[in-house]
Amino acid sequence: MTSNFISFIHRDRIVEIKNPDPNETLLNYIRTKLKKTGTKEGCAEGGCGACTVVLGELKNNDINYKAINSCITLLPTLEGKQLILIEDLISKDGGLHPVQEAMVKCHGSQCGFCTPGFVMALFSMFKKYSNFKDDIIKDSIAGNLCRCTGYKPIIKAAKSLQNQNKIDHFSKNLKNIIKLLKKIDNKSIEIYKNEKKYFAPRYVQELKKIIKKNINTNFLSGGTDLSLNITKERKDINSIVYMNSISELNYIKNNNKYIEIGASTPLVDLEHYIQKYYPDFTKILKRYGSPQIRNVGTVAGNIATASPIGDCLPLLLSLNAQVILQDAKKTKVLFLDSFFINYRKTKINKGQFIHSIRIPLFEKNTFKAYKVSKRFDDDISSICAAFNLEIINNKIESVRIAYGGMAETPKRAIFCEKVLLKSSINEDIVNKAKEALEKDFKPISDMRASGLYRMEVAKNLLEKCCVEIKEKKTISIYV
Ligand SMILES: Cc1cc2nc3c(=O)[nH]c(=O)nc-3n(C[C@H](O)[C@H](O)[C@H](O)COP(=O)(O)OP(=O)(O)OC[C@H]3O[C@@H](n4cnc5c(N)ncnc54)[C@H](O)[C@@H]3O)c2cc1C
Ligand code: FES
Ligand code: FES
Repeated sequence: MTSNFISFIHRDRIVEIKNPDPNETLLNYIRTKLKKTGTKEGCAEGGCGACTVVLGELKNNDINYKAINSCITLLPTLEGKQLILIEDLISKDGGLHPVQEAMVKCHGSQCGFCTPGFVMALFSMFKKYSNFKDDIIKDSIAGNLCRCTGYKPIIKAAKSLQNQNKIDHFSKNLKNIIKLLKKIDNKSIEIYKNEKKYFAPRYVQELKKIIKKNINTNFLSGGTDLSLNITKERKDINSIVYMNSISELNYIKNNNKYIEIGASTPLVDLEHYIQKYYPDFTKILKRYGSPQIRNVGTVAGNIATASPIGDCLPLLLSLNAQVILQDAKKTKVLFLDSFFINYRKTKINKGQFIHSIRIPLFEKNTFKAYKVSKRFDDDISSICAAFNLEIINNKIESVRIAYGGMAETPKRAIFCEKVLLKSSINEDIVNKAKEALEKDFKPISDMRASGLYRMEVAKNLLEKCCVEIKEKKTISIYV
């Protein structure tokens, strides 16, 4: 069934919007149409958290609560979800939610501009976790900025939730909301409005039919890159196909040779899944944007964006990942090695979409990855490096090294790899491998880092990796 209206749950009832503007942001809708002005606009690019709202999504007969940035979420993507705003946290009898009470008691708010965003980020933590350890609290608010209260009272408020009763009015009403979500859970969307088109297919076959007729359409996954064309560049996107409505593409499979990730799988799911196989992959994903970004953003979007500082890309290159591309008729499998052509240019042709990504499992190898950025949380890399080595009897039998932020595309360090291959790790070899990086890369200077700094850090990360392997320990300035 295809509809030109979207349905979602807000305050215990199904809301329908006929022919919404495909380019309208959720934040705009909340503030100007719903007239709920608790949700604020700060940066309009996903970086400050002032616009944080929570979406409830049906999962295994339960609701998965996700904090998202409403400023970069397009309104039609609300289809089939529950929208929870700061105003909705107060119960019907006027009582504050435990998260709001904690913020009041711990003096977690001063001017108040950031407060609704923090409360919503903590509300999603409250619903998702049973234990609020320090790392969970810090991660939950990594996407929220406060410029006057400071973070300590907010963290104190979050910690105090540990002793709170977890039953809130959302848990009491859970069955009713699940019933309502199930009622609206099964339609594809097709909207034509003001010369703009928006499609949200439910199945890959449907997607292929849409592509056939709309070869120049833009694929929208998490929108954490694409939507900024609207909010920052002030451009229109005239044709959109929403990929994250296709649950068939939301999966992670493992056949003991490789992990396969469907294109619409959010980064947050990969972050948890891959920890067992490549802990450093998870370590990098934990510093990837914020929970608001990772709750919707995808590896497929990261690959298609092809930014030289896309964080997954050097990791995937060093792990020899493959991209599965499809169009209306064919499937093509490409190694990521040959995928990036130029600055933000890839081998994806018109009408092709990323179906999935395969990450080989190197059981015997050592995999290490490092991200260096100006700010620890919610910041794009200045440099990102990934090392995948097989070492037998102290000899490097295979090696794949890749860097982000060192060239116009994410790139392997081929000369450096050649020096290391079939050698043992010793000071002389490490110094030669560091020198070889100068043949591999001529990094540019920009606002994130100078070329000189980039080269120095790239060499130091290589040395750090080798020392860590040799001394069998992690060297870190973070505790
Ligand atoms: C506040 C903020 C912080 C960020 N932090 C980081 C960070 O730390 N590290 C980092 O690497 N990036 C970061 N980003 C960038 C962004 O999150 C990534 O590029 C993200 O992976 C994009 O994924 P997405 O699903 O949101 O893609 P979208 O924005 O939906 O799409 C991005 C591009 O990919 C195309 N595309 C999407 N899905 C497909 C598909 N299945 N097939 C073909 N093409 C497709 C789209 O058409 C578009 O051109 C950040 C962005 C923001 C706003
Ligand atoms: S307004 Fe800053 S993250 Fe949305
Ligand atoms: S309370 Fe003023 S910005 Fe946080």
